[in-house]
Amino acid sequence: MDVLNKKIAEVGLKGFLDIEPEPSLDLFAELRKLKKEKNAIILAHYYQDADIQDVADYIGDSLGLAQQAEKTEASIIVFAGVHFMAETAKILNPGKKVLLPDLRAGCSLADACKPGPFAEFKAKYPNHVVISYVNCSAEIKAMSDIICTSSNAAAIVNSVPKDKKIIFAPDRNLGRFIAEKTGRDLVLWNGTCMVHEIFSLEKIIKLKAKHPKAKFIAHPECEPGVLAIADFIGSTTGLLNYTMKSPDMEFIVGTETGILHQMAKSSPNKTFIPAPPDNSCACNDCPHMKLNTLEKLYICLKYETPELVLPEDIRVKALLPIKRMLEISKQYGL
Ligand code: 13P
Ligand code: SF4
Repeated sequence: MDVLNKKIAEVGLKGFLDIEPEPSLDLFAELRKLKKEKNAIILAHYYQDADIQDVADYIGDSLGLAQQAEKTEASIIVFAGVHFMAETAKILNPGKKVLLPDLRAGCSLADACKPGPFAEFKAKYPNHVVISYVNCSAEIKAMSDIICTSSNAAAIVNSVPKDKKIIFAPDRNLGRFIAEKTGRDLVLWNGTCMVHEIFSLEKIIKLKAKHPKAKFIAHPECEPGVLAIADFIGSTTGLLNYTMKSPDMEFIVGTETGILHQMAKSSPNKTFIPAPPDNSCACNDCPHMKLNTLEKLYICLKYETPELVLPEDIRVKALLPIKRMLEISKQYGL
């Protein structure tokens, strides 16, 4: 076996192909060339590094990315995001090659909801409609009735007849926020996002006092105390749109720092301050999202590995609740 094939064979264990691109290469130009040659599309989440966002064909929130994945005609989808997002793209596109620059890019919400315990949880609440946040594994999606994202969760919950009871998993903060918003009683799975749960309420209050004109905007994955003092709550796309439309000039941003790149790009005269976390670190980076780098993205598309593969029975079962979500979102104009 030559060195390259040996390395490719190791990817399963390692999560990515451990090859450094030639330092002299212009990776932006190379990626543009490769995309054309291979009829590939790069879909990137707002939490990716600025370089990755700049080379992507589409940047969006989880709903936007799923909608793009559903309609793309490209032969290869390179998903610059985390594992569950690439899985969703594969579930929607069984005939296409879906690549993820680093297979280890997981999610604390998906990790906190495993099929065995979830089956036991479901058994405790028979006759409940199961709505699962898209931040979960394909196995959990296969055990769900409808999927939602943070931008359509209220619409998805409202689409369930009032006389039906609902399980909402795996994010308890988003679940609590949506229960309040819709007035529905939701049985919540106890999961959280490791990035959004660490914002410090105390430090945000102090920061607000220091910047009295700044609006505090937050993602619904944040803790209830933090959401209670937010001027606006929304998905990453919702937050970005808010900053673009608002006449305000200063914003304290309660979500992962990657989004600040697009905020600053769309409103160059406005100021964006990352909300402070409850630890000594000055950053709110998602360690999973940030496993992807421009170098890994290039190597991944060049050698078409690592590729996301899914057992067909799980894929087929997970497809239905995703399709339901996309259909309901369309009905609501989302
Ligand atoms: P959205 O981009 O859908 O708001 O999700 C945020 C998130 O945490 C993704 O992992
Ligand atoms: Fe998961 Fe939170 Fe990272 Fe999003 S930001 S991928 S929800 S850990």
